[in-house]
Amino acid sequence: MEMFLISLCLATLLAFLFLKRLLKRTTTTKLNPPPSPWRLPIIGNFHQLSLSPHRSFRSLSLRYGPLMLLHFGRVPVLVVSSAEVAHDVMKTHDRIFANRPITKAMEKVVRGGRDIVFAPYGEYWRNMKSLCIVHLLTNKMVRSFHKEREEEINILMEKLEQASSSSSTVNLSQFFITLTSDVMSKVALGRKYSSDEGTVDIKTVVRTFSRVFGTFPVAEYIPSLAWIDWIRRLDGKAEEVSKTFDDFLEKVVQEHDLDVDKKKSGFVDRLLSIQREQTTPFVFDRSDIKLIILDMFIGGTATTSSLLEWTLTELVRHPECVKKLRDEICSVSAHNSYVNEDDVEKMNYLNAIVKETLRLHPPLSIIVPRLLSEDVRLRGYDIAAGTQVMINAWAIQRDKATWGPDAEEFKPERHLNSSLDFQGQDYKFIPFGSGRRLCPGIRLALVLVEVTVANLVKRFDWRVQVGPYGVDKLDLAEAAVKMKSIAVFVPKHGSQVFLSSPNHNLFPVNKLSCFPLMSVPTKPPKFVRLKATTTMTRDDHESNRTFKELLPSPWTDQFHTISVDVSEINALRKEIDVLKPKVKKALMSYQGIDSAKKRILMIYLLVSLGLAHHFEDEIDETIKEGFEKKEEMIEGENDLYTVSIIFWVFRRYGHHISSDVFRRFTKNSGNFKESLVGDAKGMLSLYEAAYLRTTKDYIMDEALIFTSRHLESLAADGTCPPHLSVRIRNALTLPQHWNMEMLFLVEYISFFEQEKDHDEMLLKFAKISFKLVQLQYLHELKILAEYVTYLHINDTFEEFERELGPQGRSYNVSASKEVVKQSNYLLYWIIFQGKERSWFKTHVKANFDLAKWGLVYHVPSFEEYMEVGEVEVAVYATLASRYMSMGKMAAKEAFEWLKSRPKLVQSLCVKGRLMDDITGFQDDISRGYVTNAVSCYMKQYGVSENEAFRELNKMVGEAEKIINEEFLTKTGVRHCVLKAVIDLARMIHVCYNGYEGYTDPQGKIKEYMTSMFVDQIRL
Ligand code: HEM
Repeated sequence: MEMFLISLCLATLLAFLFLKRLLKRTTTTKLNPPPSPWRLPIIGNFHQLSLSPHRSFRSLSLRYGPLMLLHFGRVPVLVVSSAEVAHDVMKTHDRIFANRPITKAMEKVVRGGRDIVFAPYGEYWRNMKSLCIVHLLTNKMVRSFHKEREEEINILMEKLEQASSSSSTVNLSQFFITLTSDVMSKVALGRKYSSDEGTVDIKTVVRTFSRVFGTFPVAEYIPSLAWIDWIRRLDGKAEEVSKTFDDFLEKVVQEHDLDVDKKKSGFVDRLLSIQREQTTPFVFDRSDIKLIILDMFIGGTATTSSLLEWTLTELVRHPECVKKLRDEICSVSAHNSYVNEDDVEKMNYLNAIVKETLRLHPPLSIIVPRLLSEDVRLRGYDIAAGTQVMINAWAIQRDKATWGPDAEEFKPERHLNSSLDFQGQDYKFIPFGSGRRLCPGIRLALVLVEVTVANLVKRFDWRVQVGPYGVDKLDLAEAAVKMKSIAVFVPKHGSQVFLSSPNHNLFPVNKLSCFPLMSVPTKPPKFVRLKATTTMTRDDHESNRTFKELLPSPWTDQFHTISVDVSEINALRKEIDVLKPKVKKALMSYQGIDSAKKRILMIYLLVSLGLAHHFEDEIDETIKEGFEKKEEMIEGENDLYTVSIIFWVFRRYGHHISSDVFRRFTKNSGNFKESLVGDAKGMLSLYEAAYLRTTKDYIMDEALIFTSRHLESLAADGTCPPHLSVRIRNALTLPQHWNMEMLFLVEYISFFEQEKDHDEMLLKFAKISFKLVQLQYLHELKILAEYVTYLHINDTFEEFERELGPQGRSYNVSASKEVVKQSNYLLYWIIFQGKERSWFKTHVKANFDLAKWGLVYHVPSFEEYMEVGEVEVAVYATLASRYMSMGKMAAKEAFEWLKSRPKLVQSLCVKGRLMDDITGFQDDISRGYVTNAVSCYMKQYGVSENEAFRELNKMVGEAEKIINEEFLTKTGVRHCVLKAVIDLARMIHVCYNGYEGYTDPQGKIKEYMTSMFVDQIRL
């Protein structure tokens, strides 16, 4: 888990570098949009939402008002938080707010909106809705199903009685779901369908359907994070579950269609007979019937069971209400064992209890979203067509301004003698919505809830017995998360009955679940432990393999709990807006013969100070123009610093300037002139330039030897200013070219500040920009940390295991599991759902192969080892996930290129494999793991450990040269795609630079993380 997070952080950090363009602020419109909280460039306002979006909406609305505009990624979302504004939307302008947003996946299921919930407002929707209201959901029709309800409620009672007498534990939430879906089955389909007769279990399908379609489709809001949907295999799952549902309904409809003589009772029969007899003025077909039924199941079961759960929960919390209710039940239905629907109609207090529950806990806290179809001016604000609209019923129904100071309290009495109703006429009470789109299933839902509650209260004595956190702390306040503190009830004979997690936010389109920070997982999160300490069972031919004990990461909690001061971000942005044009002007204002040279030198500063992303266009233009005039620029230039920087900048931006430019600094012998040694800055920049060498830059090999030899003593002999000595020492440890950009800039800012002639404006800009990026990263990392927590990784692991089982089994299933847990392969496995899987499998196989060798102490030949080891090191998978995170910027072209196994990537694999094995060698050996590049080399060439290290380090150097060379080779692949490889090479370099930082979150890595994410920069 920890390593997973660290990798994710570092990978995100790298990915973020490509998204810098997006940090630019969007332009503002001349219109007067509603107030909006500050937002992040990519995710918009998502970071301001919590696990309960309706709560976050309310907090924000207290600051920004009842009509507030948010952005979910790129999509504008209007949030309505008061009865007055709800009235404007659902009454005054109801027509233009009568559409609904629809996801692509859902659009497929409902065939472009042929159901009721998603049908675009118009003729078709009107016909379908009136078909429902007039033929299916009339009071008479609803009443006609009383027998079906009675049968199912009695089944529930029997189950509870049985549980009571056997003192066994039951999950009441499950019972409620069963009750509502069984009743709905009988009402809609005419009977219950069970899996015993070969049909699907409708409860499970409805649940899966709601989960899949309730999953927040990240790609539709934030295209650059489309990989999250890939990870979750959203499309595939949506197709699977909707097909299951459709197949089932098709079977049901066929059965009813064929058996015309049988006694008909359910909605399906009714709809089929209307269709056959053509009693409606419009035409609908069988597929439309299936969609109506689908709406009923999805819209009517989870909502109703949620209302049941909350009603019972509130009753348990308020024994005084139970007492009053019981009195009422006794007065109306003293002698019958079953409280029937006629009795319930007479019970005002029961009705008030259900109303009060609907007020405090509307099953759809935010009513099913609407979509604005025309531009509109509302309360002085301009709102554009296409804006999604979220009406926060939960906040409106708890508004003290309309409900009084006790708005948050459960007081059924407030509804007695009150004409206030929830049929959509009063905008302070809208659990079923209002206007044209008002819920048509109110009666059907309420009658079931009321009769069930009456019988549960009459037959059982409900009270809290135990709460995991103690009775007094039984906080059943609204959020489903809090409801994890399971309420345990005791029916009168003493069995324990659980009421768990009433899910208040169940409607698929409304449920913003599965997005980081907002998801309420339908299952408790489970984790794959990346730290493997188990000793595996030993097969006859196998040895045990002890896995590395990983230290816990100090970062997980940090990222979870961090909070960022938004006003600080706003202030920083404003300062950047002021500074940017000034710096741009300075860059572009150089004139005359040396202008190109001066600009290149300034670009070096911009890159080193982490400011280049603010000026990408200007830099591209300058470099292109400058490269054409490079000879002119270099001619007669004898300053080592200037030539080295020009070389460095061109190569860094992918332009092949020849290393012959350094010939002017060499003697006839080809050696560098000793006179250069006095120029510390020049020597340092030559040293840095040398790290951009290719296989053919022999002069740069020489430059590296020459500078490395002298820089050490230059730093030590006291001739350089102290800050330059520090810079030199740092460069000798980690050259700028192989350092991560953000890490380098932390160090460079402090160096630059101590330079005598430094530009104050650039320094200030650099600090502000760093601080802003730091805060933005922290936001994103927090989101990622949350997201990782809620990923159901274990499920995926099981899938992984199923598919790869046979390969693993060839030597040891548990071993393969451990290997997988130890590596990031599980992450990649999740990412590579679908079509890239077979390609990915070869990478996993390499992992298994290495593990297999390790288990039997096998030391293959060096070549044999590298063939497998280069694949196993996960460079391809990491890059692929990086490209996914770049979204459209990279897309298909990058994948195709990656799959062709380009030399650039192959060389990175060599670098990664060898650096990993060199730094991890001692640790591997101490754990008895010998399948390592160092051992293979030693064995094959009969050399000592030190000799092997030397040779392997040389190979790393050669691989780096090839990486540089390939980066300069014109491949037709975009710069950002190639740069991703270099950035990964930098991350690998940082992780394995003389220590094994990948599995050790302490030491240097901790220091780096601290400097990037924790230490504050002094402005
Ligand atoms: C406690 C139970 C229920 C609650 C709280 C509830 C709530 C809602 C809400 C808030 C809406 C959106 C209204 C709007 O946009 O203004 C809605 C729409 C809808 N509900 Fe319900 N509902 C419940 C039960 C049912 C049942 C039992 C059925 C079916 C028999 C049903 C079928 C529908 C349909 C078809 C729509 C879409 C109406 C349209 O778009 O025109 N609901 N419901």
